[in-house]
Amino acid sequence: MSVGAEKEITFKTSELIISKTDLQGKLTYANRTFMRVANYSELDLLGQNHNIIRHPSMPRGVFYGLWSTLKSGREFFGFIKNYTYDKDYYWVFANVTPDVVNGKITGYYSVRRSPPKQAIANIEKIYLQMLEQEKTVDRSQASEFSWNWLMDTILNEHQQSYEEFVLSLYKQHR
Ligand SMILES: Cc1cc2nc3c(=O)[nH]c(=O)nc-3n(C[C@H](O)[C@H](O)[C@H](O)COP(=O)(O)O)c2cc1C
Repeated sequence: MSVGAEKEITFKTSELIISKTDLQGKLTYANRTFMRVANYSELDLLGQNHNIIRHPSMPRGVFYGLWSTLKSGREFFGFIKNYTYDKDYYWVFANVTPDVVNGKITGYYSVRRSPPKQAIANIEKIYLQMLEQEKTVDRSQASEFSWNWLMDTILNEHQQSYEEFVLSLYKQHR
């Protein structure tokens, strides 16, 4: 993989990238902004696992946090780097929520905004540390381990919960 060749794709701060999935994380909806930025057609996306756009430099711990938060019925916030169809990349600040119909979780819903550059610079450093943490334990433990490391580190260094930290990072640089 020639990482140096990847270029960043950006979108306007007024735009929202929206997708919906079923309970397993298979895409059931993508809005036009999603298709334009990620450069996929609707046909390419629907029915695919959401990890189709997963970027290899994302720590596995972030997705562990995403799924464990959703499974406990709560919403998740986080900075995510994604691959486009052509293996370029784009950063988002994502809010992922359970999609509740008549009191039952029927799937998940994600709304993403364009993140401030300074917030990305900060989170990239933290994600590099998470990747290092993931190398120190057995692969089967890595994602839970680095997610716990992230929450502990934020608490120790910023006296904030993970959610408070990422929301303040997003707002502070807006
Ligand atoms: C509503 C929703 C939105 C998601 N959005 C993304 C996303 O933008 N990028 C991404 O890599 N994973 C996203 N995920 C997580 C993926 O389902 C998957 O867990 C992740 O790509 C890691 O792949 P893996 O679980 O196969 O290791 C999303 C999941 C849900 C339920």
